[in-house]
Order: sequence, then structure tokens, then C-alpha cells
Amino acid sequence: MNTKILTTSKEDIAAAGEILKSGGLVAFPTETVYGLGANALDENAVKKIYAAKGRPSDNPLIVHIAEKEEILPLVQTVTPQAQALIDAFFPAPLTIILPKSALISDTVSGGLDTVAVRMPQNEVARKIIKASGCPIAAPSANTSGLPSPTKAKYVIDDMAGKIDAIVDGGDCAVGVESTVITLAGQVPTILRPGAVTKEMLEKVLGRVDVAAAVLSEMKEGETAQSPGMKYKHYAPKAKVVIVNADKAQYEAFVNTRKNAFALCFDGDKIKIPHLSYGKEHDGFSQARELFDALRRLDELGAKKVYARIPEKSGVGMAVYNRLIRAAAFNVIDLTKPFTIGLTGPTGAGKGYVGEILKEKGFRIIDSDAVYRRLTEKGAPLLTEIAAAFGEEVLRDGCLDRKELAARAFRDKESTAKLNALVHPAIVAACEKEATGLCVLDAPQLFEAGAQHKCYKVIAVTAPEALRKERILARDGITEAQAAQRIAAQFDEAYYLSHSDYVVYNDGRDLTKQINTILEEIL
Ligand code: TXA
Ligand code: MG
Repeated sequence: MNTKILTTSKEDIAAAGEILKSGGLVAFPTETVYGLGANALDENAVKKIYAAKGRPSDNPLIVHIAEKEEILPLVQTVTPQAQALIDAFFPAPLTIILPKSALISDTVSGGLDTVAVRMPQNEVARKIIKASGCPIAAPSANTSGLPSPTKAKYVIDDMAGKIDAIVDGGDCAVGVESTVITLAGQVPTILRPGAVTKEMLEKVLGRVDVAAAVLSEMKEGETAQSPGMKYKHYAPKAKVVIVNADKAQYEAFVNTRKNAFALCFDGDKIKIPHLSYGKEHDGFSQARELFDALRRLDELGAKKVYARIPEKSGVGMAVYNRLIRAAAFNVIDLTKPFTIGLTGPTGAGKGYVGEILKEKGFRIIDSDAVYRRLTEKGAPLLTEIAAAFGEEVLRDGCLDRKELAARAFRDKESTAKLNALVHPAIVAACEKEATGLCVLDAPQLFEAGAQHKCYKVIAVTAPEALRKERILARDGITEAQAAQRIAAQFDEAYYLSHSDYVVYNDGRDLTKQINTILEEIL
């Protein structure tokens, strides 16, 4: 099919209207993103949209109108809430969902008994709808799964040869798709955030909920209120990861990355290849730039992209909603003090893994060393320990570790008492040492509750017989003592189920295992 490229001239708008009227497909600009339109009342025309986009047939379309009254025949009733939104906002980057009328086919509504209606702000869009003389079903004019097009050239990239015409109306002002709100349930609920924000909607409606799937990943088996939310979205070819960090942390982090791109904000000091997607603290500029930046990253051949996290309020909610999907919900959380918590049962060989991570540039924070420092002669913690367990745990003012062990590991209560005393002190001291990419090497990570302060937890493990052999050789203790030590810890299953990753130190290649993990988490 030869796809005509039309302008926004009067003649071309009339031509676009004619194509739509006669059952063809026309892509046209709106204030949000380009839409791919068809006569909403012509099922055959609507089916062609799904084919051109490769869109799943259960993902319903938005019906676009040119005048407020045109909503009337499409819905069962315009409820007072709907009327309030229409009065307050239309024409706007806002889509309202209501129970549908008999005019709306299942092809348009994806089999649902509701319909989504929107009156675009963009005048070219409204003129085209008017010229067609019918309501226009229009999803974003991208291939399903790719970022929505905010410029005509991206529509051409995706749709040339597949549709009748593309109207080039320049760049889209908003840059992310409309806010979708359903009024079909008990409480008005935002199914997709956009430039008409929750705050703006609440001013008109009072309570407005946000569907859980807007900001977090849907669990398996959960049904989406909006079918669109369950599909892969906005994904460029590159692997995108969001970096949850402040500006300085973000800059420091991405500048250590190799073979990667940064998707940053204007003015960020980035030394690796990068693109900006707008200004910090300015959701509107981010919304306008995001999809364009994602497409440009592909053009640049980016394989891995580290994106700065947008704020989640106001228009930022829309930006975050799109970016988190582009990132397939992958977020590197650098707001946690420790990048990696490294733990495992005694004798498993955590130390070797620590060494490998050190070679890879991580700062290693050794909790045992910190504990020894905190219990040096004259240290305040030592005085507290002696007060709790008796002066006999001191010899010449120094901690007699064997004596303390004998007293503290006598029974559960004594162990708990020691832990309550030393764990918070150790974690706090380790936190003071934590900067940049760092590893908290802590045999008692879970006992201290420090796993919550780590972005990811890696447990190192080995078969019990091997672990026992190692601690016997290392610590010069008896078989019975070794067995007791092992028994005093969580069992292997606990480490495995409470860690994000497990490294097996049983002859398998440690470096290879670490590389695989780092590839995934950073
Ligand atoms: O800004 C926009 O809304 C753009 C421009 C072209 O108007 N259009 C757009 O359409 O983004 P589309 O099809 O890419 O996204 C429509 C979203 C989908 O997530 C779809 O699942 C949801 O709206 N939707 C449509 N009808 C629905 C309904 N009856 N119930 C729930 N969700 C619905
Ligand atoms: Mg879309």
C-alpha cells in the first residue's frame, strides 16, 4: 500500500476525512501522541487498525470526537461525574470510560461493555474528525509494544506501507498519551496517568483512585482494569533500567558504566554517551521528550540504558508509568545504603565472592572487621557488653571472645540479648562507610535485619560437609564446636529463600556466577 503523506492544509484535511469516511486508516497528530484513526462505527475499518499495529484484539480503542455532544450516542448515559469532567476539561488530553451504547462494537471495546471517549485539544485532530463526519477510533500510531510516536517521522517508520495516509502536524505538545479515567465503577479510577493529573481530577470529582497497575507490576493471574496495562509497552530495543538515586548518585553511578547510555536530565554531568529527556522537576518537559528519547536511543544503537528516575507526582506520574514499562519494571535502587548484602552460612566462602566483587570495583564493608573495631579496648560498645554479660568477658580491658561466646551462645535469650546490643551498632557503623557501589559482607545480615538496607542480597552457599571442613581448618575448633556453630545459624533453605541470588561455592565458577548476577542487577 502506498501511504500518502498529507499536510495540515484545508485540502489535505478534507482528503484525510474522505479516507476515514470510506473505511481507510489515517494517522493524525493529537496533542498527546499521533493516533491511528478509523471510522469507529465501521467494524471492518477498525479491524484494520489492529492488523496495522499488530495489536491484541482484546485491547480496546479510544473513540475520538470533535464536539462535546458527540459523546451522547456512544455511551448509555453521561453521568453527572462525566458531565463535570467534560465541562471542566474537554477538549483535553483526557479519556473518559463509561458503559457503552449499542453503537459501539466489541471490536472497538475489546469485548468490554464500556467505551473510552476523548475529545482532543489539537485542532488538526478535531478538524479531521469533523471532516470524516464520524467518531474516530484511534490508538497511538505505533507498532504495538514500541514507544508511541510524538513526531510524524516515527509514524512513517512504523506505519508506512500499512495505512492509507499520515497527516504530518509537527511534534506533539504533551508527548504522553491521555489520562484514562473510568467512571464505570464505584470510585473514579485512573487507569493510565497523563497530563490531566490526579490532582486536577480530584478538584472536580473529589476522591479519585489510581489503579494498582499504574505504578507497579501486575502479579501473575491479576486482571487488568485496563487491558492495555498488561501488555509490554513503550519498549525500545535497548534494555532500559531506571536508577533510583539523587542527581549526584546517578551521575557517579552511570559514569562507572561501560557500553551503556544514560537517559538523563538537562545539565546532568554525564561522561558516557547520553540523551536528556527533559528538565529535572519538570514533568511536562519530561513527558514531551520521553518517547522521542527512547526512539533516538534505538537509532543510536544503545544496548543498555540507565534512566534517571522521574518524580511520581503531577505529570511525573505519567512519565514514571511509561518509563517503568519501558524498563520492564527494572529499577536499580541506589537509595539503599548498601548495593549488595553478602551473606551465607559459615564456611560457605563468602570471602572469595567478596574478593571478586572488590576486583569489580565494589567497596567491601566487612561487618566482622567493623565489629572487632567497635569492641576494641576502651570502646563504648565493649563497656555495654561487659555490663550485660559480666566483667569476666573482659581480660586486661580487652574482649575475651571465647568467654563472651560461651555466655552469649548458652541459650536463645542470651544470644538475643547480645544481638540486640551489637547488631544495631554494627549496621550503623557499616552504613557510615557505605558510599558508591558497596557490598555489606555480613554473616548475620538477616539476624541484624540489614537485608532491608541492601538493594540486592546474595547468599553464598556450599554443601554442609564442605562448610564444616572449611571452618575446622580455618578456625581450629573441634568437630562438636563446628557442628554447634552450623546449627546456631539459619539453615541453607532460609538463606536461599531470603536472598535475591545464590552463589554456589562447590566447584562451580564463582566469577561466572557473579558476572551473571551483576549483568542482571546493574
Ligand atoms: O492520547 C491518547 O489517548 C492517544 C491519542 C491517539 O488519542 N491514544 C491512545 O490510545 O493512547 P491507545 O489505544 O494506545 O491506548 C488506549 C488505552 C489502552 O491502554 C486501553 O487498554 C485503554 O486505553 N482502554 C480503552 N478503552 C478502554 C475501556 N473500555 N476500558 C478500559 N481501558 C480502556
Ligand atoms: Mg498505545
